[in-house]
Amino acid sequence: MKILVYAVRQDEIELFHKWSQIYHLDITLEKQNLTKQTVHLAEKFNIIVFLAEDNLNQEVLQVLKSYHITTIFSRSVGVDNVDLTTTQELGIQVANVPGYSPNSVSEFTLLLTLSLLRNYKQTLQRTNNQDFTILGLVGREIRNQTVAVIGVGRIGCNTLKHFVGFSPKELLAFDKIEHEEVKHIARYTTLDEIYQKSDVIIYHVPLNQHTYHMINKNSLSKMKDGVILVNTSRGAVMNAEDTLEFVRSGKISGIALDVYEYEIPYYRHDWREKYIPDNILREFIAFPNVIITPHIAFYTDEAVSNMISTTLSNIREFLDHGSCINFI
Ligand code: COI
Repeated sequence: MKILVYAVRQDEIELFHKWSQIYHLDITLEKQNLTKQTVHLAEKFNIIVFLAEDNLNQEVLQVLKSYHITTIFSRSVGVDNVDLTTTQELGIQVANVPGYSPNSVSEFTLLLTLSLLRNYKQTLQRTNNQDFTILGLVGREIRNQTVAVIGVGRIGCNTLKHFVGFSPKELLAFDKIEHEEVKHIARYTTLDEIYQKSDVIIYHVPLNQHTYHMINKNSLSKMKDGVILVNTSRGAVMNAEDTLEFVRSGKISGIALDVYEYEIPYYRHDWREKYIPDNILREFIAFPNVIITPHIAFYTDEAVSNMISTTLSNIREFLDHGSCINFI
């Protein structure tokens, strides 16, 4: 069985060699993303591996199927980049890596929240310019904040656990499925109560028809003045244009976006010498109280290693038993 791995970064190569030897797999590494322009590279392969930044739309999936590829393996958790209606129609099975390291994302979420509460971007901007004044940089303590997590799966649950150590005024949670374990540390409530009461709102939801643009004019107008938002889930959970309006007006006092709906042309690339044609992204970057990071919350040594070892173990399991625990 020949396996083609798309979107391989330099830091993954050694790990792919190590784990492919352990699982006796014949892999070929490709640094380009999987797109309609690069799908032809998969022609002589039986299985492909990809990442969240690859685009597995109907057209790409139809080409894969024409190459008789019927099992595909994501090394990410989110599979919103895969047209799952088409995979079902074509009989293509999809696996993912559901729990490569929830700590990676939740620790980064904590970092972003604290950075916003303590005006960290503004502080660094000053000191980078040898301005050591502190007026205007007064921060807020978590013990005085009501913190809410929307989307309480593995990552959301972990984030809530991290916040317990800071003893927030109140810890709120929202998810369709409620876990007993979470009820010991947070109070599940409605979105409306979260919007009304929270000083900090954290998004850990998967992207689907219920969460698409859930941060919008309507939800934002229900939130507290001076609210802080942190999105480490998916860019399209937020309507960027609506959100920018609420940043301009000051209703949002700080926002951290590790993800952005239109991130694909920018993230993972060096744009230093180039003009960014996306006006919204440019304006977000310029705000001192907006933190933009390039979809990096997952990026720890532990997570990268687990993404690769679990993906290759998924493939081994499928080859040996014809099934895989992580098929979606
Ligand atoms: C995911 O695993 O779904 C992520 O968002 C991380 C990915 C960009 C590698």
